[in-house]
Order: sequence, then C-alpha cells, then structure tokens
Amino acid sequence: MSLLQRLNEKNLSTALTQDGNPVTSKREIVRPKESELKLSLQSHLIAELKKNPNLSDDGQRELIEVESMKFLNDKNDRLTYEGKVELIRTVSNELIGYGPITSLLNDPEVSEIMVNGPFQIYIEKNGKLLLSDQYFRDDEHVLQVIEKIVSPLGRRIDESSPMVDARLPDGSRVNAIIPPLSLVGPAITIRKFPQNRLQIDDLIRFGSLSDEMAKFLEACVKARLNIFISGGTGSGKTSLLNVLSSFIPADERIVTIEDAAELQLLQDHIVSLETRPPNIEGKGAISIRDLVRNSLRMRPDRIVIGEVRSGEALDMLQAMNTGHDGSLATGHSNSPREMLSRLETMVLMAGMDLPIRAIREQMAGAIDLIIQQSRLKDGSRKVVNITEVIGMEGDTIVLQDLFSFRQTGTGENGKIIGKHVSAGIRPYCSEKLEQYGFELPADWFNGE
Ligand SMILES: Nc1ncnc2c1ncn2[C@@H]1O[C@H](COP(=O)(O)OP(=O)(O)OP(=O)(O)O)[C@@H](O)[C@H]1O
Ligand SMILES: [Mg+2]
Repeated sequence: MSLLQRLNEKNLSTALTQDGNPVTSKREIVRPKESELKLSLQSHLIAELKKNPNLSDDGQRELIEVESMKFLNDKNDRLTYEGKVELIRTVSNELIGYGPITSLLNDPEVSEIMVNGPFQIYIEKNGKLLLSDQYFRDDEHVLQVIEKIVSPLGRRIDESSPMVDARLPDGSRVNAIIPPLSLVGPAITIRKFPQNRLQIDDLIRFGSLSDEMAKFLEACVKARLNIFISGGTGSGKTSLLNVLSSFIPADERIVTIEDAAELQLLQDHIVSLETRPPNIEGKGAISIRDLVRNSLRMRPDRIVIGEVRSGEALDMLQAMNTGHDGSLATGHSNSPREMLSRLETMVLMAGMDLPIRAIREQMAGAIDLIIQQSRLKDGSRKVVNITEVIGMEGDTIVLQDLFSFRQTGTGENGKIIGKHVSAGIRPYCSEKLEQYGFELPADWFNGE
C-alpha cells in the first residue's frame, strides 16, 4: 500500500459524511468540468471589476450580483432562478472570497476546516469530524486560495518555502503546506476564530467542568496562583485560558503573549503582544521567549502566555518565582506529570546548562496548579484533572489530584457518560486562598 493510500485510510477511520454515516471509501473523484457558462460569466465579471478598481468588498459583491444576473438573463440559458443564484454565489466566492471554503468560513457552526488536497475538505462541526461536500478544481486552485490568504500578509508559499502560518482578516488561524512536503496535494488547516469565545457558564453547561471546579479555579486565579493548562492539540487549552484570564480583577495590568493573538479578554488594562515570523531573508523573527523577557520590563501584574513550547519555559518559571505570581500559560501534553517532564525539556532548550534537580526545584516552586484539558473520543472537551504541585520529595516533584473526570459508561452514538469527582483531599493551596478571603466549603473536597 502506498503512503498516500495509508494516509487516506487513516483519515477515513474516524470521519463521518455530512449525513452522519461513517466514511467507508474515498469518494469517487470525478473532476467536475467547468461549464462554458461559468467560465464566460467569470471573464465578464473580471472585466467589470477591472473597470471599477476602487470598490470595497461589499461594493464588489454588489457589482458581481447585479452584473451576473444581467449577464445570465441576457444569455437566456435554461438555468432556473435557483441555479443562477447558486452559480453567482460560486463565482463570487471565487472572485472575492476563498473559493469553495468561503461558505464553510461563513458557516458559524463550522469550527475547523481541513483541506487535504483539492478533492477532500473535512470540517469540524459540534466537535465531530465531517467530510464536506465542497471541493477545489485542482491543485492550482488550492494554491491560488493559499496565495490569496498569505500574500496580503507579506508571506509567500512556493517550493522553497512550502509551509506557512497565516491569519485571515477575521483572526482565524491558517496553516498551509504544499507538495513536495504534502503528499496529498496542497493542504490547508483553518481554526476559525470564534465569534464569541466560550464563557465559564458555557463550559459548565457542556459538562466540561463542574460548578465547584469553576468556583475553585476562579478563586485560584484571583488569589494569584500560577496556573498551567496542559492538553493535546485542539483540546480547548486556549478557550480555557481565555476563561481563566477573564477572572483576573479589572484593576490589574495584564500582558498577553501569543503566536497568533487568539485571546479575547474584556478587561480594560491589557497589552497584547504577538510574535513575528522571520522575513524572506530569514531575519527579524521575534519569538515568544523574546516577548516574555520584554514583558518583564513592562510592569505586568499578570503575564498570560498563549503556549509555551521552547526555551521561554525557563524565563516563565523564573518570572513566576520572582514575584510575577498569578501567571497563566498553556502547554501541549497528555497528563500533568508529562507536562512537567516536557517543561523540563523545554527549559533545557533555553541552552543554559542547568542541573535537572535545579530545574525541578524551579518548577515545583513556580507552578501551583496544572489543569489537564482533553478532547475525548466522542468529540467533547473536558477538564479531566485539576492537579496541585505540592513540592519536592527527593528528586521527584510531588503532585496531588484535586478533581478528576470519571467515566462511568458510554451512551448513544458513543457519547461518554461520567462525572467530575473530587479526590477528597483538602487543597494545599487553601491557606493562600483564605488569605485572599476565599473559604472553600468542606463538602467540595469530601471525596465525590
Ligand atoms: N469545553 C469545550 N467544549 C466544547 N468545545 C470546546 C471547548 N473548549 C474548546 N472548544 C472548541 O474546540 C476548538 C479548539 O479549542 P481551542 O482553540 O481552545 O483548543 P487548543 O487546545 O488551544 O488548540 P490548539 O492546540 O490548536 O492551540 C474550538 O473550536 C473551541 O471552540
Ligand atoms: Mg490554542
């Protein structure tokens, strides 16, 4: 079996078609022939748009609609009215939108779009992976859309730089990778920018965490604990970071540091910093680490780091240990314990020759709480652990789970049934919380 076939098989195993049936075979790919009518309409519109070069997006859309209807009525084609509207929509998406993914971008229920070469576009809707009914004409068509996304940002994609990160004007995060690196043709992955980031009430309503856990976390943020959110790709780390940051009191100065600004905080006093990729000559990159260091000179009350993945871990731990408590960050890992060992590796990436024990002591001293976020098999996202970092015992960092998610069964359509339980241990941090006026009810920690 070729690598290409294997990749496709892998994609198929977990995906559903739009009707909710499992995808069992790669769709018969019949490259649709462009109709004469569509092509002539397209060139007519391109000519019209050239005559009016200064139109806004809305102006262009209006021109396209008016001109197309006129054009199609003149042609006296057998197309029905609905057919015409559909054709105009497609052509207009080609000309001023992002081709076949435009309608998916506009669909508020779609949260993620994954283009695996021209003929396969998967979407995520309500936590489920679905095969959409959209497709591109060919590789070239996908490349055109990638160009359209990246060129306004001064970035490029071609054989010499075949991967690129970018953002759409609405803030959606885009990654594109093309052949020869991608074997399925040009691939695009888009994480759509949520219209409204989830709020704590949404997370409670979805069963992502319990009411007590939410109140506990709110108290922990207000009492300036250093909190690390750990989770896999797309598990909901950024969403949870946004919720936790919203608990920061309004009179504190917040500096946020991200690769692509995704946080939506409502407080007034915020400075948002964003990294910068290198320019065409490979120079001028500003990393998360540079920004973390700079932020320390900005008199922050709180530092919020979108994702820690390299040497900045050292600067972050040092900041947390030297008076910048109440900091929040996320990292990529599958359990609190694994998060610690990944942080250890990241600190080593900073290039300082620190002994492992010293690194562990820094971590144990700096981090108070690790929250593990997971995307479960049924597509739901949950906090599966809230774990406290207690200290060191010999060479080992001691952790203590306060809350966890316990699965009790599986319901219809593979839905995971379970509940959040407390470990029955009074938190080590309760003293600190009490100093800030938070009395934790004893029954939160009575074991169930
Ligand atoms: N608790 C939740 N319940 C349901 N959906 C959620 C929840 N948290 C996040 N989501 C949705 O899951 C998607 C991924 O969320 P988010 O961007 O927060 O994940 P992430 O872990 O930061 O991803 P990445 O690793 O790509 O940065 C978004 O569409 C978001 O709206
Ligand atoms: Mg994220």
